Amino acid sequence: MRPEDVLADLDRRADLGGGAERLERQHGAGKLTARERVELLFDPASFEELDRLVTHRCRDFGMEDHVIPGDGVVAGHGLVNGRQVFAFAQDFTVFGGSLSETNAAKIVKIMDLALKLGAPIVGLNDSGGARIQEGVVSLAGYADIFLRNTLCSGVIPQISAIMGPCAGGAVYSPAITDFTLMVKHTSYMFVTGPDVIRTVTHEEVSKEALGGAMTHNATSGVAHFAVEDDRECLQTIRDLLAFLPLNNLDDPPRVTPTDSPDREDAALDQLVPDAPNHPYDMLDLVRSIADDGYFLEVHAHFARNILVGFARLDGRPVGIVANQPSVLAGTLDIDASVKGARFVRFCDAFNIPLVTFEDVPGFLPGTVQEYGGIIRHGAKLLYAFAEATVPKVTVITRKAYGGAYCVMSSKHLRTDFNFAWPTAEIAVMGPEGAVNILYKRELEAAADAMAARAEKVAEFRDKFANPFVAAARGYLDAIIKPRETRRKLIAALRHLDTKRDRNPPKKHGNIPL
Ligand code: HXC
Repeated sequence: MRPEDVLADLDRRADLGGGAERLERQHGAGKLTARERVELLFDPASFEELDRLVTHRCRDFGMEDHVIPGDGVVAGHGLVNGRQVFAFAQDFTVFGGSLSETNAAKIVKIMDLALKLGAPIVGLNDSGGARIQEGVVSLAGYADIFLRNTLCSGVIPQISAIMGPCAGGAVYSPAITDFTLMVKHTSYMFVTGPDVIRTVTHEEVSKEALGGAMTHNATSGVAHFAVEDDRECLQTIRDLLAFLPLNNLDDPPRVTPTDSPDREDAALDQLVPDAPNHPYDMLDLVRSIADDGYFLEVHAHFARNILVGFARLDGRPVGIVANQPSVLAGTLDIDASVKGARFVRFCDAFNIPLVTFEDVPGFLPGTVQEYGGIIRHGAKLLYAFAEATVPKVTVITRKAYGGAYCVMSSKHLRTDFNFAWPTAEIAVMGPEGAVNILYKRELEAAADAMAARAEKVAEFRDKFANPFVAAARGYLDAIIKPRETRRKLIAALRHLDTKRDRNPPKKHGNIPL
């Protein structure tokens, strides 16, 4: 055969993957094929495939008769929103997308390239795991990928989409990456599946309940986004990449704003209810101050007492961290602390300024939290805000009580601008708790304990439940009107454009894991 004919035949076989029947099965399962996914991820006609003709080298179990160009993974680079991105997509139609020696080598090659060129890497996972016929060389391939995931961490953004099975040790690659998306009903992740669990612990659990999209989005927190189908998954990756710099030396991509930086929102003046224990939705504030009201929430289903995600302010990407008073009164618990800490560290690694909105009555009390290690986990959030050297701006809307005051990007943690609304209450604890401790004996002896308590609470509230003591000490830079929050934030971030700050030289810190 002439070389052109050989190439045409190889190309045709590479395109066909595991064959027409298996491609049809993939569609029947509600999934797109690896090539269709790659086409949707990248800007039209921009994807350049690498190693399309790579084949496996296995000669056992009759594998020599089953050789498919590309060997079960589509890998390469292209443009997303006009910027360079690397990606691999596992092809479930070829040996169940399983990872062979050569398949892993393709992934490792593009990871090395992405790291060297400073461009994000996206992995589209749909695989039965280690290729059983190849044994240890397949396991070695996984370890090679895990090493790259670790070396890339904090240097280039890494995004994993789970679009089919992802089981066993294979889960640890997505786990190291920065963001994980899961497609509802067609994807699952677990270290050990239902059969092994039944044998070992006698528990009965379905694949979906054990490791489906909502389990990992709402319960375990392993995944950051739950999407309806493959198309939404790929679009969400594109939306996410639009906020991220290409690498840790790059600035986050600014866009020309279409929303006025001076826009005020009078509704914010009424956002905080008069009654101090009434909830409100912090999302209303976030959407109000964001350019065009657009907030890409991360981890929306997990630890909903804290909000994290990306928005733009006058075209600049920012990472938002906000207590959510409408869930658990906005208290910080273990999950919220871990969720917030990981997000803060991501933003800090990638030069994305942090905007914090604070309304926190403290850490969640109780034995569940204490036995679970709230001390260790709460410290993560404190550590993350303290070590962050990106521009940091905080707005206290209402409560800033106790240790949580310190943790939530307070002035004392090198936050650049700290603002408060007039409704802010900054104190060691809430007035009721404080009065019960300070005036315990007096209240027990009082003829009318209720009236005495109410009087003391009012007195305490007058003295401490306001922003003025903190402002007098310079712990707050300004008390601002709620309606002008967007304008103040934009002005602060503009000033902080030239910020330079660094931590003492060290190999790495020892964040309490
Ligand atoms: C080789 C595999 C494979 C694998 C699936 N296939 N998994 N081939 N190695 N690991 C092949 C099947 O033989 C089949 O080939 C095709 O892929 C599709 O598989 P089906 O079973 O028909 O599909 P489905 O019913 O959808 O089930 C998918 C599945 C199941 C749940 C993933 O295939 C499965 O349980 N596979 C094994 C999973 C596993 O135990 N992997 C090892 C995990 S340990 P044909 O020719 O019929 O189309 C691991 C260690 C990683 O991964 C370590 C890292 C440190």
